[in-house]
Amino acid sequence: MSAVASSAPSMRELGEKAQRMIDALAAISADPDRLTRLYLTPEHKRAAELVGEWMAASGLSVRMDAAGTMRGSLPPGRSGKSSNKALLIGSHIDTVIDAGRYDGNLGVVVAVLAVETLKARGVKLPFGLEILAFGDEEGVRFPVTLTSSAVAAGVFDPKALAVTDEGDTSLAAALTAFGGDPTRLQQEAYARPGVLGYLEVHIEQGPVLERVNEPLGVVTAIASQSRHRVRIKGEAGHAGTVPMGMRHDALTAAAEIILEIEAIARKGKKHSLVATVGHVEVMPGASNVIPADVRFTVDVRAADDAARQAAVETIKNFARKIDRRRHVVVGVETMMEKSVARCAPRLQKAIGTAVAAIQGKPARALMSGAGHDGQSMVQLGDFGMIFVRCRAGISHNPNESVTIDDMGAAVEALVGTIAEIARQESAER
Ligand code: HGY
Ligand code: MN
Ligand code: MN
Repeated sequence: MSAVASSAPSMRELGEKAQRMIDALAAISADPDRLTRLYLTPEHKRAAELVGEWMAASGLSVRMDAAGTMRGSLPPGRSGKSSNKALLIGSHIDTVIDAGRYDGNLGVVVAVLAVETLKARGVKLPFGLEILAFGDEEGVRFPVTLTSSAVAAGVFDPKALAVTDEGDTSLAAALTAFGGDPTRLQQEAYARPGVLGYLEVHIEQGPVLERVNEPLGVVTAIASQSRHRVRIKGEAGHAGTVPMGMRHDALTAAAEIILEIEAIARKGKKHSLVATVGHVEVMPGASNVIPADVRFTVDVRAADDAARQAAVETIKNFARKIDRRRHVVVGVETMMEKSVARCAPRLQKAIGTAVAAIQGKPARALMSGAGHDGQSMVQLGDFGMIFVRCRAGISHNPNESVTIDDMGAAVEALVGTIAEIARQESAER
């Protein structure tokens, strides 16, 4: 790897520039007074275009793919055994509702700044770079998630095109309206032999790095995760006239199941089992009508697949018991299921070397309870993640925050990791 000293920005200046870019993205939202940017919305388009401008300014050739991912490409700077491959680096620019501004967005900003820094230092890499701003990691608008990275990884299930959002718009129709192309998704997949690996920088969304007072960490794996939709059909009735013993109340049935889901998860601590009911709909929704139709989501995660699968089975068995005992109809549908995604040892090593050089002590290795696009991209080969400390581990919350110095350190860690991978490639001639 050849490099010449130049007026490359300092770590502090990189952090300050990252903050300006984060704030510019945070200003692009569906709501004027909180950050909400869902997949294939006008605000997704505006944010992707802004990222495209940054990518172009850093010398990348830019295009929006058929799934709405903004892609920036840089060819190899010099020949090498992997000059027919590209290192993919990305994260997501969609958000949850009333989101923090660093989840996902930080990874895209850091990737662009790392390309700028490599160029400013005159670094010529023996492989290409592909910077990816995915549009759907959160899976908030549609009941599927990781859509755009699944397309890039060639694992997108075309059946998902038929799922609809709350306004009954299908994924296919939304993609077409956005300017994407549901008929070209297959062609957008990277070919595995052309991929050197996938890297992502992301906030930890947990309290560990802050507790040990370290700005960065190396991720070992992403937890096993599944998302389910439960629907309970009871019988509407007059709140004042139907005796309690004669009711088929869909909401009290749901309440029993939801509390049991919590109890099941509490028993799975040693497997880092967690379960969350994040969205509930009650119909018809009038105060004087016994609820007839209740739908809710269930998100289940664990450090290993077997523990998660066992918990989901226990939840389903309990739901069947409530179905019989309360004479309601309970349906449980699995919307997505992702096994544990393990980070490649060689990328963990490269990240560990870069992080140790920055923080002056070995990098801490930790598992991610949060899901990430790496759960798709692992299908293309090696993947690695750099975690960045965030205040009190707060995330999916407007109080999410990262310090300027830690963002500068994250850029340097990504630059160092890329350089380390280049060294690994040259050493393995
Ligand atoms: O839900 C998750 O873990 C991620 O933030 N989408
Ligand atoms: Mn995220
Ligand atoms: Mn998130």
